[in-house]
Amino acid sequence: MAGLTHVALRSLVAGFGGCGLYTSEMLSCRAVVHETPERSIYLRRTAAELPFFYQLVGNEPDAMAKAVRHLERASPPDGFDINMGCGEPRIRNSGAGCGLMRDAENARRVTAACRAATALPLTAKLRLGWEESADDMIAFAKMLQNEGIDAVTLHPRLAKERFTRRARWRYIAMLKRELSVPVIGNGDILSAPEVAARFDETGCDGIMIGRLAAARPWIFAEIAGLIDPATISPDAVYADFVRILEKHFPPERRLGRLKEFTSYFARNFRFGHNLETRVQNAATMDEARHVAGEFFGMHRDAAP
Ligand SMILES: Cc1cc2nc3c(=O)[nH]c(=O)nc-3n(C[C@H](O)[C@H](O)[C@H](O)COP(=O)(O)O)c2cc1C
Repeated sequence: MAGLTHVALRSLVAGFGGCGLYTSEMLSCRAVVHETPERSIYLRRTAAELPFFYQLVGNEPDAMAKAVRHLERASPPDGFDINMGCGEPRIRNSGAGCGLMRDAENARRVTAACRAATALPLTAKLRLGWEESADDMIAFAKMLQNEGIDAVTLHPRLAKERFTRRARWRYIAMLKRELSVPVIGNGDILSAPEVAARFDETGCDGIMIGRLAAARPWIFAEIAGLIDPATISPDAVYADFVRILEKHFPPERRLGRLKEFTSYFARNFRFGHNLETRVQNAATMDEARHVAGEFFGMHRDAAP
């Protein structure tokens, strides 16, 4: 997730364990070829985040293939994911992200170019598409499968839908029945117990968790039965996040990342909007740390 699944959040998650696959923020294929692991915060990662995939966003077959080759050389991952689900107007209207689902022929070219560029696992992340049509969505995913995609993740919302309408998991079950490659379901997982129900209902092969990973970086460990969530102290987790952020990010990049993380992490508290607002208003990391410390002092008992 852009702005969220950088090295600091991923390594915090990895510290708890239980996550089966880590993915980078979406990386623009045109920009990433100028990044090197020594200098780029986008390529930075720790040995604990394994297996690790880069997610690429773009709509030009050659540029996408070039980005795959560059990353495989400069900072070899365990696989690549093609973003065909981003619904941000700027991205989708440029023909990238979910824009690829409106131009299946170009999506096919992008997939074929990436497939030819690497022997590593190659996956794609989709939405339902632009119109609600199970047939079109399934035909699109089958086309990707024919082009050599190794797994498909489905976030079952339309291109322009925001989070207000619920993700339709019935489409994940449908897609699972139709594809021979693994299908990963995504969307609106809000707690650990839901995960088993989603696997049962859909028969899907994996579940991708987005926003909840930022709200509760221990969620994967909780699902895997590695920890008892009652033993988690959110203020200690927040302090750990700040520490890891400071370790990896240059000073000018820290506060923005902390604000982004805090807007999800604050959901652990009944009065979380106070935490979010105070951190959003902070002008420095020290101020953010101070106001967060004050909040945790007052709301120690409010964590669910
Ligand atoms: C801040 C933010 C950034 C996101 N960035 C990406 C991204 O870079 N690539 C991607 O495939 N999806 C991205 N997503 C979508 C999520 O991966 C996921 O599909 C969506 O949030 C639904 O899953 P969830 O309910 O578990 O969060 C982003 C979502 C959010 C809220």
